[in-house]
Amino acid sequence: MENFYTKQPQYYGDYLGLEQILSAQRPESEARGVDAHDEMLFIIIHQAYELWFKQIMHELNSILAIFKNETINDNSASLQTVTHRLGRIVEIWKVLIEQVRILETMRPMDFLDFRDLLTPASGFQSYQFRLLETKLGLKMEQRHQQEYYQQQLRCEHLQQIQQQEVELSLFELLDKWLSRLPFWQIEPYWSDQNTKVAESIENLHPFWQEYRTIYKNSLRGAEITEISLADFDALFFDNSENRSTRLSAAACQSAMFITIYRELPLLQQPFELLNRLLEIDELMATWRYRHWIMVRRMIGLRAGTGGSTGAGYLKGAVENHHIFKDLSRLATYLMPRTVIPPLPEKLANKLIFNNL
Ligand code: HEM
Repeated sequence: MENFYTKQPQYYGDYLGLEQILSAQRPESEARGVDAHDEMLFIIIHQAYELWFKQIMHELNSILAIFKNETINDNSASLQTVTHRLGRIVEIWKVLIEQVRILETMRPMDFLDFRDLLTPASGFQSYQFRLLETKLGLKMEQRHQQEYYQQQLRCEHLQQIQQQEVELSLFELLDKWLSRLPFWQIEPYWSDQNTKVAESIENLHPFWQEYRTIYKNSLRGAEITEISLADFDALFFDNSENRSTRLSAAACQSAMFITIYRELPLLQQPFELLNRLLEIDELMATWRYRHWIMVRRMIGLRAGTGGSTGAGYLKGAVENHHIFKDLSRLATYLMPRTVIPPLPEKLANKLIFNNL
């Protein structure tokens, strides 16, 4: 029987399936005898994007599988694996943003040589891109011009996206994970907390009573009218159905705790994880913005081949398709280290590597 070491040697091109890949560039212009040199670049760049989308999906699927476990053992490699793979996704997005420059060596007149031949195909119909957004946590109701999706996507692709929406996204799994972190529940850790509470609010954990008071006193000048304490309360304590933020109050509290005390050894990995999600959101927004600017330069105010308003639609997507914006909102409520309440000793000791 063949095993890992005795199997037949592989040939480079066969192993990589190069015959299929390299015969998959079929410019329409060539088939129709039209002279359009740049169509090859247009096809290859889209294919390169789709391959990278596939790799991102591969990483994302493995991350979702880890997060779907009821508990994530902080002493196992799981959290580290998630953070590492999110880091790989970050690096891929950086490359995807850079690639726009290669496409921009094609000038608008070069694009016009073949543009009409591809109508109504458009990157809008990239179902891998849509699945990727959905797996991260973008919902149909959040999407800019949702009706357009019904018209432009092939039925089976739309169904695939709808099916994916039924499953838990990374955003939802992150919410569950953050919500079950036990920072507040373990009473003995907080028993020696020396709070300097100015105003006592019913049912609020002493930590939050103190934090809220310090925060209120930290607001200066225009912030006093611009930033309402009601928003602070809504973000961290509102558990009602009318909650304005997608991330739950419990998850916001944990994410804030991790961010504030991120230097404690056991919080470093969770902090990195949150940071990479923010980075992915930022890089995707940067890609959307970069693509929008490139499109404006390439087709001006013309409609897209996919039938949208073109640059107008893309601008709306840049503004509306952030996925982890709730995490970035937390920065509004951070304060300098000098005024952050120190953690009770018992709790701080639980958050260091102390089993050596
Ligand atoms: C000449 C180059 C390009 C032009 C003029 C262009 C134009 C457009 C336009 C106008 C749209 C809006 C939908 C429509 O009506 O078609 C769109 C969407 C999109 N395009 Fe491109 N595109 C170009 C290259 C690319 C490349 C290389 C990719 C890589 C995969 C890409 C991916 C996408 C995606 C994913 C969307 C949907 C964006 C969203 O909904 O946020 N495009 N494109």
